[in-house]
Amino acid sequence: MTVERRSRSTEAFFGRRRGKTIRALPAAALETGLARLKLDLGAPAPARLEELFSAEVSAVRLEIGFGGGEHLMSEATRHPGTGFIGVEPFINGMAKLMIALGERPLPNIRVYDDDATRLLDWLPDTSLSGIDLLYPDPWPKKRHWKRRFVGQTNLSRFARVLKPGGLFRFASDIDSYVNWTLQHCRTHGAFDWQAAWSGDWHEPYDGWPSTRYEAKAIREGRRPAYLTFGRR
Ligand SMILES: C[S@@+](CC[C@H](N)C(=O)[O-])C[C@H]1O[C@@H](n2cnc3c(N)ncnc32)[C@H](O)[C@@H]1O
Repeated sequence: MTVERRSRSTEAFFGRRRGKTIRALPAAALETGLARLKLDLGAPAPARLEELFSAEVSAVRLEIGFGGGEHLMSEATRHPGTGFIGVEPFINGMAKLMIALGERPLPNIRVYDDDATRLLDWLPDTSLSGIDLLYPDPWPKKRHWKRRFVGQTNLSRFARVLKPGGLFRFASDIDSYVNWTLQHCRTHGAFDWQAAWSGDWHEPYDGWPSTRYEAKAIREGRRPAYLTFGRR
């Protein structure tokens, strides 16, 4: 059976939770992977967030809406001494990550499969060194802009959980969302845009592996922007 439904059941999630049918193998990987790696928000977060990981880590970063998990896997491989929390409510994306982790286990990844605002509200103050929001759903129509993940409320969530000097990274191929984010961060006041020179927002991040979503945007002629903000 194909289950496809759009729902708005939480504060900041407006997308699809399920796509095409998940076949038996991905479904099994999803079930066993979530049983091992999903964070339990019913229990309080540990004061030292690093304790969430079976690997020895000295910092924790968060990726919101990791899609197929290409960037999350790549960053967790590049930085074995950092713990990564990946959030993705779209279960086909989560299943993909679990298959990749089945083939290449990484002890510095934990996940959450629902709205990232819930996870953010669970995290202790100043517990993260970085938050990546990469190609968030763009909501290009003006009447939908209020659905965008970036806004004053979520920037205040980021400001609370990021350590001073922690980084908020935002990539998008939609100019109106890039300008929106620059403006919202300026208004918010807790973040400094780290552009070193005028062209550098078109430079991908160090070690950027690209994603399927980005490849499609480039194929369709859109130019990605990669913004980095530092928590004051
Ligand atoms: C356009 S896709 C980009 C995926 C990936 N970052 C990439 O670059 O390929 C946006 C993703 O954000 C997820 N998303 C949307 N709202 C979210 C929320 N409130 N919390 C966590 N993830 C969310 C969607 O399920 C979707 O997979």
